[in-house]
Amino acid sequence: MKKENLIKHYKAIYKKSPAYIIRAPGRVNLIGEHTDYNDGFVLPIAIDRYTNMLVSKNDDRKIRLYDLKYKEKEKFDLANIRKSQQKKWSNYQRGIAKILLDAGYKIGGMDILIFGEVSEGAGLSSSASIEIATLLSFKELYDLEIKPLEMITLARKAENEFVGVQCGIMDQFTSLLSKEGNALFIDCRNLKYQYVPLSIKGYSFLVCNSMKKRKLADSSYNERRQECVEAVKILQKNLPGITFCRDISINNFEKYKSFLPEKIKKRVEHVVFENDRVQKAVKVLKKGNAKAFGELMYQSHKSLKELYEVSTKELDLLVEIGKDEPGVLGARLTGAGFGGCVIYLVKDSCIENLKANILDVYSKKTGLIPQFYKVVPSDGAISQKSRLEFRGA
Ligand code: GLA
Repeated sequence: MKKENLIKHYKAIYKKSPAYIIRAPGRVNLIGEHTDYNDGFVLPIAIDRYTNMLVSKNDDRKIRLYDLKYKEKEKFDLANIRKSQQKKWSNYQRGIAKILLDAGYKIGGMDILIFGEVSEGAGLSSSASIEIATLLSFKELYDLEIKPLEMITLARKAENEFVGVQCGIMDQFTSLLSKEGNALFIDCRNLKYQYVPLSIKGYSFLVCNSMKKRKLADSSYNERRQECVEAVKILQKNLPGITFCRDISINNFEKYKSFLPEKIKKRVEHVVFENDRVQKAVKVLKKGNAKAFGELMYQSHKSLKELYEVSTKELDLLVEIGKDEPGVLGARLTGAGFGGCVIYLVKDSCIENLKANILDVYSKKTGLIPQFYKVVPSDGAISQKSRLEFRGA
């Protein structure tokens, strides 16, 4: 929706103009799945789909929300922030407000209009984009002195502690700090990051939504996380220096894997080799080696399917269709899994054919109509007034 129309809606609802327009993007992860909460490596990009938030202050310390897509409103008081069971969509704003107050930031009331373009439940991080947009809104309206890395950490904390999903840091990081034309290589241990130019000549990334909705909070996500913690506890007997699966080298994994129960061994094997794949992926991407990158994507999917067991038959089918298509160099599920999207690395001239064939085969076999998004690696969150202020922390 055009900015002018959003402003018109804002004025009609709140009888005043918004002070800021904030846009925070969703993301797709190119490679490095379920590694972030293991202190490992990830390589995501922000996409050109945003949570748009129009905001202005109010002086009664209330947060008013209006969601334009769902035509729903909600209100809560900063003096008494509790989780909502009826309007769960407002828990992201509630969580951010609570975390900011708990951290000692002086914030006040805000009137918000939300227009979300990031599909929910698709593994494209609509929730992180809402969190980052809310945080940025408070920052702008109340002149909060808060650095990008702290914003990211607080947004994740809101999701972990208030919403109740034990996610890693990748999504919030990507939504805030991505750069157009680049992937973001993040070391989730020390939060150092590097931009990796995405210039594989003649190839693009295409995302296909399986349309099988993912319910992250209700899924086995937290269970997987717990299994990794468990693995570290067991291996610490032989490797006392380790704190996360990130610390387990391939050699040590081979040496000590027999101490792990079967299921946990599979989880660790995924994490250990996925971390290795991300580092290799950065190297081949820098050399423009699309074929090698695609190969790593296929390996990642196989591992997520067989070892981490977070794929679905729909996602597997989408990857299999890719393997038979001319011009497709790689494919894998992206995001947490349990439904959501597959990402393909495909020759530009073959994209339309790929889409047509997926539509045909996938729809016939599953009865679902997949959706496609051409991936445009985009900038992280912006507020209309200060686009450059948040770069390069
Ligand atoms: C979700 C989480 C991320 C990450 C991915 C899996 O998107 O929010 O932190 O763990 O799953 O890679």
